[in-house]
Amino acid sequence: MDLTTSYLGLKLKNPLMPGASPMAHTLDRVRRLEDAGAAAVVMHSLFEEQITNDQIAEFSHTEMAAESFSEATSYFPHMEDYALGPDRYLNHISKLKEAVDIPVIGSLNGVSMGGWTDHAKLIQEAGADALELNVYYVATDPDEPGVAVEKRTLDILESVKESIDIPIAVKLSPFFSSPGHFAKQLDAVGAAGVIMFNRFYQPDIDIEELEATHRLDLSNSTELRLRLRWAAILHGNIKGDIAISGGVHTVDDVVKAIMCGASAVQVVSALLKYGPAHIGSMVSALKHWLEDHEYDSVDQMRGSMSLEHAPDRSVFERANYLKVLQLWEV
Ligand SMILES: Cc1cc2nc3c(=O)[nH]c(=O)nc-3n(C[C@H](O)[C@H](O)[C@H](O)COP(=O)(O)O)c2cc1C
Repeated sequence: MDLTTSYLGLKLKNPLMPGASPMAHTLDRVRRLEDAGAAAVVMHSLFEEQITNDQIAEFSHTEMAAESFSEATSYFPHMEDYALGPDRYLNHISKLKEAVDIPVIGSLNGVSMGGWTDHAKLIQEAGADALELNVYYVATDPDEPGVAVEKRTLDILESVKESIDIPIAVKLSPFFSSPGHFAKQLDAVGAAGVIMFNRFYQPDIDIEELEATHRLDLSNSTELRLRLRWAAILHGNIKGDIAISGGVHTVDDVVKAIMCGASAVQVVSALLKYGPAHIGSMVSALKHWLEDHEYDSVDQMRGSMSLEHAPDRSVFERANYLKVLQLWEV
């Protein structure tokens, strides 16, 4: 069975990899992921705020913070919450490259135009095989139009692209008015792929203490559907590859992701829950699933349920909304 896939110009032994997360924090765990069958590893992000350290103190005064809502700053992680500073981050990439044979993908995470993007070059020099660019932006300013958010992201990509040769994948938010059009624009600027999607960690409210509280709930498979829909819509419409991140817990989820057009499938919550060996179980279950269903390769299956190829494309469109609402009976 041919499980190989091409992702961001990298030839991978299968489509499965741990997504950006603490899974790559220790060399030992990354070795265990590689032994289990992970085809690549994505580092957690190096954040703009870590690089431009001095901006942290002034964060509440910047345009990015909601000035009218001072509690917004409590959503912002403290420096000590970040695992690795910029130097240690780069060092860790070099160490990972020595420790494992699978491709190592760095991740740079920021929202404004500025010097922090120079770290893309340092990540490349540290040995990363590719870079994820994550522009995790919360548009708190009601006067800022969506087109400005898109333009800034494209500008950031362009500036990073100018400084490095390794492929760049952009980790997208699902909250663009027209995610497909935006992905095409990223394509045009030279993104080698898109990762769908960022999970937005919503703060909760402590009603007794009148505080906004941080919450991180792990995902479940229902979150995959948003990704499946957009992968299916984008497949065949962009030059770059599609990776799915969010809600992949079982081999069925992996099969669905590939059928909708994914070249790579990232897993985080399930690995945090079940440990590195879970990726191995999914790789071997994928192999068996393909054999049982008489496929020769992962490539043969890719995109078979995309909007272009699905037997009933209406399930990805407005018609699905009407249909599911009518299914509910009281
Ligand atoms: C503890 C934790 C840390 C994460 N850190 C990062 C990060 O540094 N950069 C990033 O782009 N995504 C990060 N993510 C998001 C994951 O890469 C992934 O997109 C998200 O968890 C959805 O995938 P899942 O449903 O498999 O968990 C993190 C997720 C978790 C749970």
